[in-house]
Amino acid sequence: CELDVLDLVPFGQTGNESRFFALRLSRPEWTRWRPGQFVMIRPRNFGLDIPWARPLGICHMTSRHMICFFQVRGKGTRRMSELRSGDKVRVWGPLGNGFAVEPDTPTLLLAGGMGIVPFVGYVSEHPKPWNVSMLFGHREHISCYPVDSINEHVPLDSLREAESGDLDDFIFTIQERMSEYAEQKGLVLACGPTPFMRTVQKFAAELGVRCQVSLENRMACGVGACLGCVTKTTEAWPVEAKREGLVQVCNHGPVFWSDQVEL
Ligand code: FES
Repeated sequence: CELDVLDLVPFGQTGNESRFFALRLSRPEWTRWRPGQFVMIRPRNFGLDIPWARPLGICHMTSRHMICFFQVRGKGTRRMSELRSGDKVRVWGPLGNGFAVEPDTPTLLLAGGMGIVPFVGYVSEHPKPWNVSMLFGHREHISCYPVDSINEHVPLDSLREAESGDLDDFIFTIQERMSEYAEQKGLVLACGPTPFMRTVQKFAAELGVRCQVSLENRMACGVGACLGCVTKTTEAWPVEAKREGLVQVCNHGPVFWSDQVEL
């Protein structure tokens, strides 16, 4: 579908050029979506030099608009940061599967950097009361991220890796929180960069806690056509993969049970 850009809001410290943006688009016609799903987006200002659409996680959706959040990392996202109100973008979605929602289960959300994006929708849509808390690790200043809507809904612990200066402290905190949820027979949902996901996956296996991870593999088509996003499965993968031992992150994920994929 084609949507209108309502506005583009920069995040981050004043005085610095922002690399973080909330893109608010007119509401698509979909009636259902799940936090953790994503859209492929192609603004009209992508010329022939940017042939592919870009995947963006859905941050939040209301009856009036959809918000996606992105960080400028290359030519496509740089071009997106130049969008203006009234511009048109083509959007395909919602794509992928989304995170498990288990209101009767204590749930720990673990976010690393931009991995906070799907949890904005997750906490604002979740039924209350529900035992949900969140640990957020980030290198950039916290004002670069959409944390306000999280704080409104669930307890959020924020750990700035660069400030603590000690990655071991951060890893220890993750392990400690995950072991609390393992004791409660809870659920851990994680989203962030691959090294962060690997750490979470390792602790989940050691502690025996149910855990889902959202993968950030590069995507070109977003709909299972290019095989650009494949990842390896483990023996715990329940269905026969299309290619032996491989699954498409865009089709079968991006959210997986942590014991079912290799990171
Ligand atoms: Fe093309 Fe997944 S991005 S198959």
